[in-house]
Amino acid sequence: MLREKSRHKHHDSAVFHVQGSATYVDDVTEPIGLVHVAPGYASASSGKITSIDLDSVRRAEGVITVLTASDIKGVNDCSPAMGDDLILAQDEVFFHGQVVFAVVASSRTAARKAVKLGSIEIESLAPSVTIAQARQSDETVLPPYQFRRGEVEEQIATAQHNIKNKIDIGGQEHFYLEGQVAMATPQEGGGMHVLSSTQHPSEVQHCVARMLDVDEANVVCEVRRMGGAFGGKESQAAQWAALAALAARKTGKPAKMRLDRDDDMIMTGKRHDFQVEYEAGFNDKGILSAIKSDLYARCGCSADLSLGVNDRAMFHADNAYYYPSLEITSHRLKTNTVSNTAFRGFGGPQGMVFAERMMDEIACRLKLDPLDVRKRNLYAKGRDVTPYNMQITDNISLAMIRSLEKSSNYRTRRKVIKKFNRENTILKKGIALTPVKFGISFTLIHLNQAGALVHVYTDGSVQVNHGGTEMGQGLYTKVASVVANEFGIPAAKVKITATTTEKVPNAAPTAASAGSDLNGMAAQNACIIIKKRLATLAAQKFDCKVTELEFADGVVTGAGRSIAFAELAKQAFLERISLSSTGFYATPKISWDRENVAGTPFFYFSYGASCSEVTIDTMTGEMRVDQVDIVHDVGKSLNPAIDIGQIEGGFVQGMGWLTTEELVYNEQGRLTTHAPSTYKIPTATDIPEKFNVELWPSKGNKAATIYRSKAVGEPPVMLALSVFSAIFDAIASLKPGSVPKLNAPATPEEIMRAVNAMDADNE
Ligand code: MTE
Ligand code: HPA
Ligand code: CA
Repeated sequence: MLREKSRHKHHDSAVFHVQGSATYVDDVTEPIGLVHVAPGYASASSGKITSIDLDSVRRAEGVITVLTASDIKGVNDCSPAMGDDLILAQDEVFFHGQVVFAVVASSRTAARKAVKLGSIEIESLAPSVTIAQARQSDETVLPPYQFRRGEVEEQIATAQHNIKNKIDIGGQEHFYLEGQVAMATPQEGGGMHVLSSTQHPSEVQHCVARMLDVDEANVVCEVRRMGGAFGGKESQAAQWAALAALAARKTGKPAKMRLDRDDDMIMTGKRHDFQVEYEAGFNDKGILSAIKSDLYARCGCSADLSLGVNDRAMFHADNAYYYPSLEITSHRLKTNTVSNTAFRGFGGPQGMVFAERMMDEIACRLKLDPLDVRKRNLYAKGRDVTPYNMQITDNISLAMIRSLEKSSNYRTRRKVIKKFNRENTILKKGIALTPVKFGISFTLIHLNQAGALVHVYTDGSVQVNHGGTEMGQGLYTKVASVVANEFGIPAAKVKITATTTEKVPNAAPTAASAGSDLNGMAAQNACIIIKKRLATLAAQKFDCKVTELEFADGVVTGAGRSIAFAELAKQAFLERISLSSTGFYATPKISWDRENVAGTPFFYFSYGASCSEVTIDTMTGEMRVDQVDIVHDVGKSLNPAIDIGQIEGGFVQGMGWLTTEELVYNEQGRLTTHAPSTYKIPTATDIPEKFNVELWPSKGNKAATIYRSKAVGEPPVMLALSVFSAIFDAIASLKPGSVPKLNAPATPEEIMRAVNAMDADNE
């Protein structure tokens, strides 16, 4: 159990964040001789490079050198797995924004100015940009993959009711406040030290080593914190770190690369946009007998993390619902656009949009309350095997929904809304209550491991290091609390240090919401090892059994005697007992046989439910979220303040994805929404006026996680599905029985399109 005294009251850097004194990569004191790197790219999206003329670039003021693919002595690749992402383009370009060269100059401004003088000739080909174009050409980055169970077609055809429809789901830009950035400093003997804003320091280390053709042991990657990442720095921080390292190697000087915001948006991947085609069979009560869905995802020009992302979309195409018969097929489309990547939820949100749309459509067709349709289709006893053949044993969806139905006053508000909609012709209201079920664990099983390093000093203060990274989510704070708790010392006595591949090697990315589950356990294991040594010494001194000892309030007690933790540490030092240890953790009980669709890919599920009420203006398409009520399960919380922050932030980020954030590519494959002027992220004024977030009164995670807590990083994003469903509900009120053709994001334009389409025959 986590004792109150060991728990931080708030994020350990909260004060620094507010003061502006938290150090990010670009805030680190610049070393003497620092050079700056800026990327250059071609105007085309697809085609052969016929010439690169960089003479004027080289002559420009402040320019020291220019980097091209020929400068790379090792491997020109920054991909996470498949070897298909070039650090610098070689003979062809595959998307608009692909880096062809990089300028190294004495200042960032000089580098950015010089970049514009480059001339790249491309024998341009017509790019394949959209999902429709990619489906036509049938080009993919990875083969299709399928879950199937039962006589799907027959079940759909013979059901009392069946539907066939589709939905488009937009992508999302991460819009981390701190853009992509890295600073590399050459070390003696060919080594390289890299400061990087990355969720995956080990991968950056490996990428830089491969590129420089040196041993991994010659490269160090360090990150104290990121100013947000959201998945966008899981695989795609590597390229910028590599370019900084390449510049450092070529010039022999420290080199920094910080992407300009527009470049960052143009050059880095986003959440995958999807088109989902589906069919379903169900009875008069709205209970499903079979579903069939084809998930078409725009992966962009390379595989990146699309295997895992699209698998997770399939893993979550059920959300919290039981499909007796099913066929779920994933198509991983290749386009001449930037390679899409991890984004909070990792494909899960897109799969769940499909599930919730199906519920809404069924309710619409049968003129039932969508909440009743949802409840009837939830996983339950005897109806608890997922499309990937894993049995669910920790289901609390129904209990949560019932609780929220009551606390949000759903039924009464439904009546009030019906009345409002009868009395108002222009403004229409909608309400929806949707569940979230999210699988916790990397489905690539080997990533479910973590290491930690704990040092106790002779004054009783402690340093902890682990392989996880801090991106604002409070991981460091949580792990420090674990360490304080294990030693029974105040949280303030535990110093959190920057993540570095020097201290903990071969770490997984901080992703899949598993950061505190994995690193919390690894740190606990390191503490247990040190504590055992200290306990042996104390037991000797007190002449008692180790089991009689208690570590609490900065004091170790046993057999009526006590010693300050700091004093015990000093005594251990004098007795020549090691006060330092590594700790390791690998998630137990998980397995996944992808080929045979068998195993237990998730250690447990995180659950939540949300109820949203919206008002739309049917003349303008404007929409307002009036009220949001959320209940979310974090098990026994490691830090309620941080967890509630994650829930609120995740919800708002999900709401932005589904309502205002629209990525637009033109026919040439150029992203036209590459700045906040045209790409609308939610701001403070978009936060619902009534926004009630409650933690589920959990007795603790059934799975044996650190202090029985539950992962919280990603699942809350999908609480925002209730906003999207509420908008659907408001539009549906215009013509009961008709199904709104609402795609995501539900921007004002999209809401207008869907409203206008209700007039057309839609039965
Ligand atoms: N919260 C903040 N403030 N900034 C972030 O970048 N990333 C999210 C989530 N919450 C993120 C965040 C994502 S994508 C993940 S996977 C988790 O945090 C990772 O952290 P955890 O595993 O330690 O929860
Ligand atoms: N989220 C979920 N699953 C994952 C991720 C992630 O960011 N990365 C790899 N598997
Ligand atoms: Ca990005």
